Amino acid sequence: MNINNSNILITGGSSGIGKETAKQFIAKGATVVITGRNEAKLKQVAEEIGAIPLLFDVSDAASIPSMTAKAIELLDGKLDTLVNNAGIGVFPHLGEITIADLQAVYNTNVFGLALLTQEVVKTFKEQSYGNIINIGSTAALKGFERGSIYAASKFAVRGMTQCWQAELRKHNIRVSLVNPSEVASAFANENREERQEEENKLGPKEIADTIVNLVEMRDKGFVPEVTVWATNPF
Ligand SMILES: NC(=O)c1ccc[n+]([C@@H]2O[C@H](COP(=O)([O-])OP(=O)(O)OC[C@H]3O[C@@H](n4cnc5c(N)ncnc54)[C@H](OP(=O)(O)O)[C@@H]3O)[C@@H](O)[C@H]2O)c1
Repeated sequence: MNINNSNILITGGSSGIGKETAKQFIAKGATVVITGRNEAKLKQVAEEIGAIPLLFDVSDAASIPSMTAKAIELLDGKLDTLVNNAGIGVFPHLGEITIADLQAVYNTNVFGLALLTQEVVKTFKEQSYGNIINIGSTAALKGFERGSIYAASKFAVRGMTQCWQAELRKHNIRVSLVNPSEVASAFANENREERQEEENKLGPKEIADTIVNLVEMRDKGFVPEVTVWATNPF
């Protein structure tokens, strides 16, 4: 797809991977709506990068239909690409798992992502066109110690991605999964501050580069899944 003059919705665009992806799309001429939960940060980042802010907590299932309509309205009724990036993680050992943590992670990573996509797909089907980029994780591929809740949520994202690929190809809707390994960001930081970039770890740039490449591919093809590793994280 030609990114110039396209319209894009990125959930969780106010920091880390989502922010960098929004910046890159905007630099290529797209109009981008970014969402987040912290209004002050969202507005400040939107102003900094030239995005349209939409205060929209995807874990609030009841608000998803009206907030999706609002996002599409902000883009004058046309949406080309949805980046399902908003995600959270908690990492308890088995024995410390609580229903509250399970629900919080699933509400954002799984239920919100599914219900939002379902709304957006109505527009994509009307257009007979659209791109969906789901942000998974290497935790979507393999479990690890303390990963019960997070890995399970990302396995679910991977499963849904494959189902949507099967359902949506015939509508010219491309669905891709991007699995980053560890990225220095605000992810899982209780104070929500961004981590400094580290020499041997991925930064948001490597993931944003990947997402932009997927979307830029000519519409006749798409990459179902891509995993990004740091070259030498040790
Ligand atoms: N960082 C890693 O090591 C890593 C590795 C693999 C995969 N990932 C995945 O990559 C995605 C982005 O992570 P990141 O590293 O960029 O994290 P981040 O810096 O913490 O950014 C997360 C973004 O999502 C927003 N967000 C969180 N929950 C939300 C909700 N319920 N509704 C709307 N917005 C919400 C945050 O906004 P607020 O601050 O306002 O909540 C923020 O803009 C996530 O899906 C994560 O699971 C990250």
